Amino acid sequence: MFNSFLSLIFFTINVVRAATLFVQDTPQTVLRSPETNIKVPVILGVMSRCPDALLCENSMDAVLKKVGDKVDLKLVYIAQINSSEPDFGATCMHGPEECAGNVQQLCAAKYSPFAKWWEFVHCNNYQGRNKIGLPETARKCAQTAQIDWETGGVGECAGLDASGKGAEGVRLLHKSIAFGKTMGLEKSCTIYINGEKVCVHDGTWKECENGHTVADFTRQINEAYDKLNA
Ligand SMILES: *[C@@H]1O[C@H](CO)[C@@H](O)[C@H](O)[C@H]1NC(C)=O
Repeated sequence: MFNSFLSLIFFTINVVRAATLFVQDTPQTVLRSPETNIKVPVILGVMSRCPDALLCENSMDAVLKKVGDKVDLKLVYIAQINSSEPDFGATCMHGPEECAGNVQQLCAAKYSPFAKWWEFVHCNNYQGRNKIGLPETARKCAQTAQIDWETGGVGECAGLDASGKGAEGVRLLHKSIAFGKTMGLEKSCTIYINGEKVCVHDGTWKECENGHTVADFTRQINEAYDKLNA
C-alpha cells in the first residue's frame, strides 16, 4: 500500500517534470495561436470633415489590406470642449455637422464589428466631405455597411433621427476629445503606431521620420508587431 502510494508520487513528479520540459523546449510561437497575439495599436487623430483625415483613412485602408490582422485601429477625434455649444458641448473646426459625423462614427465603432464600422467611415468619405454628418448620409452609409441603425445599437447611441445628438454618442465624443488631449493630439491627421507619433498630414506630409508611404507604415507595423510578440 505504502509502496504504491510512493510510486504514485514519483509518477506524478515525473509527469510534471516532463510537462515542464516540454513547455520549455517548445518555441513560444507554437504555443501561442495567432488570435492571442498582441495587435499593434494604431490611432489616427482626425476630424470627420477634414481633407487630411480622409487622406489618412484612405492610406490606412491600403495598409490594412496588407497587415490588417496585426492592427487594432482606432480613430480619435479632435475638437474643443465648449459648454456654450447647445448640441454637442464641443466646437468642431468644420462646424456642428462635423461633430455629428464624429458622433456617428464613434457610435458605429462601438456597436458594429470592425469591418462594418470601417466601411461606414469610407462610405461617409465617399459621399464628399460636405455631406459627412448629415442624417441622410449616416442612414445611407449604415445601409451600405449593413448596420441596422434602428435596432443594432448605433442609432440609439447617435440618435434614432441620425442627427448625431444622441446622449451616449455625445459622451463618446467628449471622451474621445479628452483622450486626444492626453496624447497631445493637435493636428488632423496624426498617425500613431504603438503609442508613438509617426506622421502628420496637414496639407502635406510632415514629421514622418520613417516615411509616409503605405509600404513605410506597413513596415513600421510589422516591426512593432514583432517586438510586441517577441
Ligand atoms: C464656444 O461656442 C460658442 C457658441 O457656439 C462660440 O461662439 C465660441 O466661439 C466657442 N468657443 C470656442 C473656444 O470655440
